[in-house]
Amino acid sequence: MGKSDFLEEVRLPNIEEAPCVTHVGPPVMRRLFYSGFDVQWRGYMDREVIAAHADYVLKETNFPELGARRQGKVRDVYDQGDRLVLVATDRYSAFDRNLALIPFKGQLLTAIARFWFEKTRDIIQNHLLANPDQNVIVAKKCTVLPVEVVPRAYITGVTGTSLWTKYQQGARDFGNFTLPEGLKKNQKLDRTVLTPTTKSDVHDEQITPRHIVERGIIAKDIWEEIEKVSLALFARGQEVAASRGLILVDTKYEFGLDAEKKLTLIDEVHTPDSSRYWQMGSYEERFANGEEPEYFDKEFLRLWFKAHCDPYKDKVIPEAPLEKRVELAYRYVQICEQLTGTAFAADFTTPIAERIRKNLAQFMR
Ligand SMILES: Nc1ncnc2c1ncn2[C@@H]1O[C@H](COP(=O)(O)OP(=O)(O)O)[C@@H](O)[C@H]1O
Ligand SMILES: [Mg+2]
Repeated sequence: MGKSDFLEEVRLPNIEEAPCVTHVGPPVMRRLFYSGFDVQWRGYMDREVIAAHADYVLKETNFPELGARRQGKVRDVYDQGDRLVLVATDRYSAFDRNLALIPFKGQLLTAIARFWFEKTRDIIQNHLLANPDQNVIVAKKCTVLPVEVVPRAYITGVTGTSLWTKYQQGARDFGNFTLPEGLKKNQKLDRTVLTPTTKSDVHDEQITPRHIVERGIIAKDIWEEIEKVSLALFARGQEVAASRGLILVDTKYEFGLDAEKKLTLIDEVHTPDSSRYWQMGSYEERFANGEEPEYFDKEFLRLWFKAHCDPYKDKVIPEAPLEKRVELAYRYVQICEQLTGTAFAADFTTPIAERIRKNLAQFMR
């Protein structure tokens, strides 16, 4: 990391307004310089703009014309037989409940997932059929395989299922890989490891590849393809992220089989909800100093709830402070813009649900 490393934000004169942005000031030119490269992007959102539109959020939808609805933690899923309409809401989920509504979150996750579906199409086919609205992906309905695949390039995390927690408790042999002594939190692993979990409604359980095959959860040939594809997807993710000054630390993939029984990447891919990203420019120095990397994930809002209530037990929980919601939204905007190199813009003139109804007219019955 050289001396010139910095993140610069320059207010541009009010000449170029994004066509679909209203009520926002002039664009901001953001430049991130370090270690020989220079990532630039133009942004419109700052914390004040987000705060002024903090109630411009989508909590849930109800469009019977779109088909039978199922509410996931974050997305409302409409079943259309051979298709699913996935509406990404602004719900922020942790501790198995909806903790807050984060402005633009659904829109940002959709933009990021779409970006990655396009960047990985040559590795494996995916479920994306159409993206008729900023919050919506129309997907090929697949038979969901009952395992989530989690590749990890670093040892980190604080929850019970995280690699670092287990390592600290003494675990070294993970079935399909072993870790050496003396690893430090947030250290890069010699190679990417896969830590699959079974998909269950109650809670996800760690499982080894050997058990997946032996217990007949997934057939051997399909599992082998999943392993190969997951490593290739993750390598692509790391490579593209690195070109934008980001480290893809870990992520989660879901796969399905389409009508022709072909393996298909489903759900979301490399979004901040399913992945951990760190800033590359500051990683080495912070790691050497025993500091946490610069991260985008939602840990700080989780910590706030833990300090102010018992989010596992309390029936009613306090409302997240505006400033925390704004900060989280700002981080989602930043990672989306840094990654895709495209300015994030939002149209505040039409309520989100109304806009979705209009944009999805052709998918309604
Ligand atoms: N192509 C697909 N075919 C079938 N199911 C899918 C597909 N893509 C995503 N899903 C499922 O849709 C749901 C998406 O909503 P989400 O809010 O993530 O739910 P969850 O609370 O189950 O994580 C997930 O349960 C996911 O497994
Ligand atoms: Mg999910």
